[in-house]
Amino acid sequence: MSEDCCFLNKDALIVKAPKKSPLALRMVVLSVVMICGVYICSICLKQIGTQPNPRLMRAELVDIPCRDPRIPESELPYVHYPEPISYSRDECACTPVRLFVIVSMQRSGSGWFETLLNSHVNVSSHGEVFSNKERRSNMSSITKTLEKLYNLDWNSSASKNECTAAVGLKWMLNQGLVAHHKEIVEYFNRRGVSVIVLFRRNLLRRFVSILANSHDRDAKQLNGTHKAHVHSRNEADVLARFKPLINATDLIPSLSHMDRGSADALDYFKNTHHMLLYYEDLVSNHTKLIDVLEFLKLPPRKLFSRHVKIHTKPLSQQVENWDTIYNTLKGTQYERFLTADYQ
Ligand SMILES: *[C@@H]1O[C@H](CO)[C@@H](O)[C@H](O)[C@H]1NC(C)=O
Ligand SMILES: *[C@@H]1O[C@H](CO)[C@@H](O)[C@H](O)[C@H]1NC(C)=O
Ligand SMILES: *[C@@H]1O[C@H](CO)[C@@H](O)[C@H](O)[C@H]1NC(C)=O
Ligand SMILES: *[C@@H]1O[C@H](CO)[C@@H](O)[C@H](O)[C@H]1NC(C)=O
Ligand SMILES: *[C@@H]1O[C@H](CO)[C@@H](O)[C@H](O)[C@H]1NC(C)=O
Ligand SMILES: *[C@@H]1O[C@H](CO)[C@@H](O)[C@H](O)[C@H]1NC(C)=O
Repeated sequence: MSEDCCFLNKDALIVKAPKKSPLALRMVVLSVVMICGVYICSICLKQIGTQPNPRLMRAELVDIPCRDPRIPESELPYVHYPEPISYSRDECACTPVRLFVIVSMQRSGSGWFETLLNSHVNVSSHGEVFSNKERRSNMSSITKTLEKLYNLDWNSSASKNECTAAVGLKWMLNQGLVAHHKEIVEYFNRRGVSVIVLFRRNLLRRFVSILANSHDRDAKQLNGTHKAHVHSRNEADVLARFKPLINATDLIPSLSHMDRGSADALDYFKNTHHMLLYYEDLVSNHTKLIDVLEFLKLPPRKLFSRHVKIHTKPLSQQVENWDTIYNTLKGTQYERFLTADYQ
């Protein structure tokens, strides 16, 4: 019997094939299976390619997940199709969703930044979800909270409709993020979460903002209520009237503590899918916002916020004991904070 029998040769298909060529027979059977497989696949692909409506495809092939061939392979880990428990995504079931987190520190412009993002019709950023201590008390609590939020089952004023294309939260370093950073980074990488790190360059300005905000918590300067963010120039001017007295002895240790905090955080998150933003750049360069939308693969939109910046004057007019502070920082590595101002 010839070695090169083709599969139409009846004899070759007889189970008791000549002992000489069991390998050849196996190769033939394998080839037939492979050819059939490729053929079936090519038919499937052709059908998917010409199928214009992903919902129909979903209805017909229930277990086939949503797939958009325009999304490159490298992006697939960051693309999700959540199935919320509390409602149905209906016609947007196959609208891909990006999971994100804004990693920041208090008084670094993240409140303003988040309202900008939430002005986009396809973004839901749910605020400081982990300001609640119970939610961050241990890793299983954190995971449970994130799973609910990323599954589009979180209800807040930022919740959008079923066509949300990016869902996230604002997370401060001191809200369990640093404490559990190893497990959280592991979670972010496993779940394909995009990390937006938002820091402020001028830590002295941040310090002034912290002191002024903390003063208002007690003083309640706006008709007896404390406001961390304001929506009118008038309110901003009332809050900016207070000039904190900065403890000069404490200043350099405080600044280097903040500095180290952000450097450590950058180190923790350097192996995640992330982008680094500085508040100062966002204020002076609106192209940075387009970079953010691009990072989350969102359609470009004009973003807006009602937040009004509180401290707009040069720092020298916003610190009670400016001369002392000036002399304390002059000639140190933090000297640049004294002069770095923006309009
Ligand atoms: C954004 O939301 C709008 C309105 O809900 C929806 O029509 C559109 O498909 C969404 N776009 C994306 C890219 O998800
Ligand atoms: C984690 O924290 C939650 C909420 O505080 C608590 O109910 C739960 O028992 C804790 N789980 C573990 C494993 O400690
Ligand atoms: C979300 O909460 C608001 C008010 O708290 C409520 O009116 C709305 O029905 C809730 N939505 C869902 C989907 O639970
Ligand atoms: C305090 O309330 C009054 C009346 O409600 C309002 O006209 C005024 O602008 C408020 N002042 C501030 C500083 O918010
Ligand atoms: C400034 O800070 C130092 C060190 O924390 C403290 O000992 C000192 O009492 C503070 N000074 C004032 C005026 O609060
Ligand atoms: C503004 O940001 C864009 C995008 O990051 C950058 O390419 C550009 O150089 C920036 N412009 C200025 C004036 O810094």
